[in-house]
Amino acid sequence: MKATAFAPVNVAAIKYWGKADADLRLPANSSLSVNLTNLGTTTTVEWDKNLTADIADNRMVEHLDRVREIAKFNLKARVETKNNFPASVGLSSSASGMAALTLAATAAANLKLKTKDLSRLARLASGSACRSIPDGWVEWVKGNDKTSYSKTIFPTNHWDLRILVVILSQEKKKVSSTAGQKMAFTSPFYKARVAAIPAKITKIKQAIAKKNFSLLGQIMEEDCLNMHAVMLTQRPPLVYWLPETVRVMQAVRQWRRQGLESYFTVNTGQNVFVFCRPRDEVRLTARLRRLEGVKEVRRDQIGSGAKLL
Ligand code: DP6
Repeated sequence: MKATAFAPVNVAAIKYWGKADADLRLPANSSLSVNLTNLGTTTTVEWDKNLTADIADNRMVEHLDRVREIAKFNLKARVETKNNFPASVGLSSSASGMAALTLAATAAANLKLKTKDLSRLARLASGSACRSIPDGWVEWVKGNDKTSYSKTIFPTNHWDLRILVVILSQEKKKVSSTAGQKMAFTSPFYKARVAAIPAKITKIKQAIAKKNFSLLGQIMEEDCLNMHAVMLTQRPPLVYWLPETVRVMQAVRQWRRQGLESYFTVNTGQNVFVFCRPRDEVRLTARLRRLEGVKEVRRDQIGSGAKLL
C-alpha cells in the first residue's frame, strides 16, 4: 500500500489571508491562483502493518489521521517527502507539501477520491494546499465545509505566462502563515480587504479570460500589497519583507515604466514571484540576476495540479 505523488507550488494572484473557521480551515475570502510546473513537492506514503507509529512530522500525522478516518483503518504510515526548492521562505511549501501528502496518502489507501474531494481534504491540512490539486488556473471558493474547495477555472494551456521565482534568502520565516493569519482580524484594514475581494475576483477572471496581461498584473500586484498592508498593521505586526524584497519590487515597477512589463507578488516570506510574458522571460531573468541580493532566479510556467507518479 504505497503511492508517490507530485504536487506543484501554487501562486495566488488574489490571496488567502484570514480564516472564517480555523478548525475547518474555511477562509475569510475566496482566492485565485496558478499552479507552477517545476517547483513542487514529491511525497511517498506507505501504509505498513508492521509500523507501530507514523514516521512523519506532526502536521503530517494529523493529516494521516484524517485519511485513516476515511479509509476506516488504523494502519501507520511511512512518509518520505522532498521539496525541490527551499521551504518556509514564502514559496508555499505547505501548499505543495500538503497537496502531495493528500494525494499520495489517499491513493496508497486505495481511496479513489474525486478532484473536489481531494481538494477539500487538502484544505484541512493547509488552506492553500487545496489550490494545488486541480490543474492550471484555480479558484478556491470560500464556501462551507462541504463546498469550500478549489476548481480549475481556466486550463493549464489557456495562456502561456512565465513565473520567475526570485530567491533572496533561505532564512526561514519566524511566524508561520497559520500563526500570522490568526491575528489578521486585528488590522483596521482587514474588513475592508475581505469586503473588496468578490469584485476583485470577478475582475481578474475577466482579465484572464481576455488574456489582458496588464490588468491581471495590476490586480495581482495590488492584492499582494493590500494583503501585506493587513499584515503590517496586525497586532503584532508582521514584516515579511527584506530590503532586497523591496528592491525587487521597485525594479519591477521601474522596468515596467520603461516598457519591460512584469508584475510581482509576495507571500509570507522574503522571496518574490514575478509574472511576465514568454517574450520577456530571458531579459527579465538576466536583469533580476544582476540585482544586488538576488541569489537565484528559477524560471517556471503554468502547470497541472497534483499527479500520481
Ligand atoms: C500568504 O495556506 O499556508 O501564501 O491554511 O494556515 O496552512 P494555513 O495557511 P497557508 O496560507 C497561505 C497564505 C499566503 C496567501 C495565499 O497563498 O493565498
